[in-house]
Amino acid sequence: MSKIIVRGGNILKGEVNISAAKNSVLPIIAGCILSDDKCIIDQAPMLEDVFVISDVLRSVCAEIDVNRKDSRIIIDSTAIKDCEPAGELVRKMRGSFLLMGPMISRFGRFKLSLPGGCNIGTRPIDLHLKGFSALGAEVNVGHGYVEAYAKKLIGSKIYLDFPSVGATENIMMAAVMAEGETIIENAAAEPEIEDLAKFLNSMGANIIGAGSGTIRIIGVKSLRGTTHRPIYDRIEAGTFMIAAAITRSRIKINGVNEEHLKPVIAKLTEAGVFIKIEGDTMVVDGTGDLKPIDIKTMPYPGFPTDMQSQIAGLLSTVHGTSIITETIFENRFMHAAEMKRMGANIKIDGRSAVIEGVNKLTGAEVRATDLRAGAALILCGLAAEGETQVTDIYHVDRGYVDIEKKFQGLDADIERVNV
Ligand code: UD1
Repeated sequence: MSKIIVRGGNILKGEVNISAAKNSVLPIIAGCILSDDKCIIDQAPMLEDVFVISDVLRSVCAEIDVNRKDSRIIIDSTAIKDCEPAGELVRKMRGSFLLMGPMISRFGRFKLSLPGGCNIGTRPIDLHLKGFSALGAEVNVGHGYVEAYAKKLIGSKIYLDFPSVGATENIMMAAVMAEGETIIENAAAEPEIEDLAKFLNSMGANIIGAGSGTIRIIGVKSLRGTTHRPIYDRIEAGTFMIAAAITRSRIKINGVNEEHLKPVIAKLTEAGVFIKIEGDTMVVDGTGDLKPIDIKTMPYPGFPTDMQSQIAGLLSTVHGTSIITETIFENRFMHAAEMKRMGANIKIDGRSAVIEGVNKLTGAEVRATDLRAGAALILCGLAAEGETQVTDIYHVDRGYVDIEKKFQGLDADIERVNV
């Protein structure tokens, strides 16, 4: 077990390089099993979640070479079997459920341990299952497992009651070799879905409209191997943007896509942060006077729920009242209690958090309750007076590559200690 110790107060300076997106690479790794040719993922982020999904695939006999030095993953699924993947690995990471779509597509059946809830909410999978059923699969849930069978998947029209990212991806992967045409309506439009479609199309799939609310998938007979470089991680970039703002510093961030970051740029600009973008580089200047703002998390292109805890940390340091409304996950304010231990003034009322900016945050021992909450607490630690210790840091390692090293490169006083 390791924890991160931050001694707050340093002004950040210099530049940081953003890694590839966790939320792109996970479905892409799952998508690799749609072909029995080799697939290569270049510049892959070396993250705990990536290692776990690789182990899940190994447990169904895929050969995966994760080259940490070159940040390259080579996936050979020739020998893959339609057996049940190791349950303890599947339960470790909800993202494992993304294997369901490609496995049904390839083998016509698959059985998987049901993903549990998590700290941020119950996270049901009904929309994924509704999609598989619409494609002609027989889906059974019971005894902690979900099983699906289909002699043949047949294209269909599927309306999602909510634009779920995972359901859109899973259904897209199940439909890619189905007979005929599938249309997903009210699909999620996140950039990671567009990236997955780009990857699948480079394997020979025929997907049109990914990145919009309507996705059309024309089934093809087979898919071939490919090489793909996933998009930059917009949430990691957003986290460093907030690092500049919360420490009232000016830093350069390399590896950003302006379009993907629009909602974060808009809200930080409204708060008084100065942002300049040239190509895929951004300068974030948080040295001016900052003012409170209201935020509502929404499906893309709305403000991302994955940035909610980090911006709550920032707004805790901005004089005046800010209100955050969380509409995506029902229990995503766990960080508030930890931030309060650092002197933040946050009141939770149902799905809203009312934040009164305080003069200063003070270092404390706090616990990362989930991935983004952990990142947010590190950000608070950078701005706080004295020392902050963030425990349960394994949550953060799921989604941030070398977070303490990247902050050290920006002159922060931060270290990881193994306890
Ligand atoms: C993905 C991201 C996660 C992000 C989330 C929302 C990955 C690996 N993870 O998670 O970082 O926070 O999108 O942007 O890409 N829902 C249902 N039924 C379903 C599926 C979802 O009711 O079958 C609900 C969920 O409970 C939640 C909402 O839909 O309230 C959004 O979930 P979803 O978009 O599916 O998130 P994930 O794909 O799990």
